[in-house]
Amino acid sequence: MNIHFLYGTETGTAEMLAEDMATGANGHETQVSDMDDVDPTALDASQFHVLVCSTFGTGELPSTAEAFFDKLKSAKPDLSELKFGIFGLGDRTFSETFNHGSESLMNEMIACKAQMVGERGIYDASGGDMPEDIALPWLEDLLAKV
Ligand SMILES: Cc1cc2nc3c(=O)[nH]c(=O)nc-3n(C[C@H](O)[C@H](O)[C@H](O)COP(=O)(O)O)c2cc1C
Repeated sequence: MNIHFLYGTETGTAEMLAEDMATGANGHETQVSDMDDVDPTALDASQFHVLVCSTFGTGELPSTAEAFFDKLKSAKPDLSELKFGIFGLGDRTFSETFNHGSESLMNEMIACKAQMVGERGIYDASGGDMPEDIALPWLEDLLAKV
């Protein structure tokens, strides 16, 4: 499979995690991009997309996901041919807005008719786990479902 990992980050964790996930996706062709460098109206539906996105501010998207998200909302591209999975990074200390960034992004992808595969993966930075220890088993399950 050809997998395109797209990360949205504020302080670099989602970027490192997307790189780890690409390395961990043995036997697949992988590509990793910052959402800031990707036009959501020009996504290649022949690739499976894995979105890796944190939450910043008070439940907002991190800065490198903002333009991607805003364009999804304004241009509403038809993504009905595109399949994706999504993994969110957050911190449960922010109890009211835990992982709201990845939730907003997921909802917007679905509003553009993209086909979500599996459940949204969730990482809680307050939990003491390393992100890759949660994300890599999640990715393995996800890829088995595509
Ligand atoms: C200023 C600040 C605000 C944050 N706000 C939230 C939030 O509202 N909800 C949440 O779940 N996590 C929040 N987080 C936690 C981050 O999403 C978490 O640390 C994540 O791993 C950061 O990933 P990144 O380095 O890719 O941006 C916040 C972190 C900081 C530093």
